[in-house]
Amino acid sequence: MQKIFFETIRKMIIAKTLSEFEAAYRSLPRKSDIGFVPTMGALHQGHISLVKKSVSESSHTIVSIFVNPTQFNNRQDLENYPRHPEQDCVLLKETGVDIVFIPRTEDIYPEEDNRIFDLGGLDRYGEGPRRPGHFNGVAQVVTRLFDIVKPARAYFGEKDFQQVAIISYFVKNLNYPVRIVPCPIVREEDGLAKSSRNTLLTSRQREAAPHIYKTLCLAAEWMKESTPQQVAEKVKTEIDKNPLLETEYVEIVNAETLQPVSGWDEARHIRLWCAVYARPVRLIDNIQLK
Ligand code: PAJ
Repeated sequence: MQKIFFETIRKMIIAKTLSEFEAAYRSLPRKSDIGFVPTMGALHQGHISLVKKSVSESSHTIVSIFVNPTQFNNRQDLENYPRHPEQDCVLLKETGVDIVFIPRTEDIYPEEDNRIFDLGGLDRYGEGPRRPGHFNGVAQVVTRLFDIVKPARAYFGEKDFQQVAIISYFVKNLNYPVRIVPCPIVREEDGLAKSSRNTLLTSRQREAAPHIYKTLCLAAEWMKESTPQQVAEKVKTEIDKNPLLETEYVEIVNAETLQPVSGWDEARHIRLWCAVYARPVRLIDNIQLK
């Protein structure tokens, strides 16, 4: 007997305003099992790995694309941020997304958002002091998006290790009924962590950039005979040997409290994180050391 296979072709809705989103949302049959992936667009396989995980675990997947002005502390960085929503939608449709939400600024911030969040001191090191107000801006947009999307689960990449930790903290603190799912870093074949900002690198900078991750891997060796402080220094010196790269910081922190450690036995899990300029582009990366 001939078997007939029916292929379900899912329709993907692109909602460009809050009211379009609300109409699309009403059409979802299982609102209690929504997976959500917030992004700023210019999507690559790092983002798509989060979307795939959500699609595999959820009845519906919603992705937002919104370049959130309140998390940028530099106007130039906000303006230069790559944007190509049409291309993004093609990728998202192939991956099985139900709704792409591409709101306007007035949909997310109908009035100025002056909320200040308790971030539990998790913003004391790393990106915190270097990008003042950044994580508060992330908290503003993420809580606003959670209020609109009401997901059961939300997926975040460990590429932004401090961001996932901070989001997990305030979600718990504010009793949001959302499970935060951390996802591993996706890298290029040469080791460079995938990032929307990589497209802003010149070809010479792009060739130099894998030196960052290569050096982070060396740190895992160096830790056998050096203190955390010595390892951080060596990583900085090694990265800076490349004339196209300039480290802003290298820190070795307790992966739970995000405070620097001075000995390897001080924490159950230890992470090394860094920010490196390939001017004017700023790249971040991290690696688990323990
Ligand atoms: P964006 O930089 O677009 O990243 C969206 C999500 O993709 C984040 O959770 C980020 O950690 C993840 N991601 C990016 N590159 C990745 C990679 N190489 N491997 C794995 N995951 C990766 O992060 C933001 O946007 C914003 O701060 C946001 C959370 C959307 C709030 O505005």
